[in-house]
Amino acid sequence: MRPDRGVLVFDSGLGGLTVLRELAQLRPDLRLIYAADDAAFPYGQWDDDALAERVVGVVAGLIERLDPLLVVIACNTASTMALPALRARFSIPFVGTVPAIKPACERSVSKRVSVLATPGTVKRDYTQGLIREFAAGCNVTLVGSEKLASLAEAILRGEAVEDAAIASKIEPCFVDDGSRTDTVVLACTHYPLILDRLVKAAPWPVNWIDPAAAIARRASSLIAERGEATGLPIEAYFTSGKRPQPALVQSLCQFNVVAAQAETAKPPV
Ligand code: DGL
Repeated sequence: MRPDRGVLVFDSGLGGLTVLRELAQLRPDLRLIYAADDAAFPYGQWDDDALAERVVGVVAGLIERLDPLLVVIACNTASTMALPALRARFSIPFVGTVPAIKPACERSVSKRVSVLATPGTVKRDYTQGLIREFAAGCNVTLVGSEKLASLAEAILRGEAVEDAAIASKIEPCFVDDGSRTDTVVLACTHYPLILDRLVKAAPWPVNWIDPAAAIARRASSLIAERGEATGLPIEAYFTSGKRPQPALVQSLCQFNVVAAQAETAKPPV
């Protein structure tokens, strides 16, 4: 076994960086690798079967090429659809990302909880199952946004996004039927990238639930300590093969991420 086998963190785009940064902070000894299926972004509007096939195909190519120890699917839309197929096909462990409905309902005082996600995650049986199992006594509002993940990516690319555009996407999360929503689940890994903008656009303060730290802890628990910190930047692969533009390079830098060399940036799919 190669001593430098890494942990692969996978998403449709840049949202998985919110999980990656938690894992990097928790486990500086690990070699981390980031991969974004940006050629297929956004996943939120894909048909279920096509998405499962796409995710399994891309992740298979990445596993073959990068030989990771473990894969974190840092994407709710992909995890709620493709995790069983990935686990059935590969023997390495997978850690998924699914809507944090359980902790949200436990913490809510008003018992009005909203789940902000992509349209794909909102319509999944998996999400309905989490509500049935963990939301007893809570009124859960599911809000599917077609555009919010793309707006988060635009902000990371340095583009101007108006507050009103963000406010209109999150507005349905805020229910006041005599008792107000006090907790919003960030059920798409892109959303914590723009938490400051969400807080600013919210009509009243709420508890925003980001499961990234819990996912990092779960992944970390599956891999033995290796001692020394690697001190290395994290290599990122993009399925489009496109080189990130300067503003994005700068944003990636804040996550200690660099794009892999041009000739290796595009994994086989
Ligand atoms: N980051 C992904 C998630 O957690 C979704 C973004 C997309 O639509 O591709 O669901």
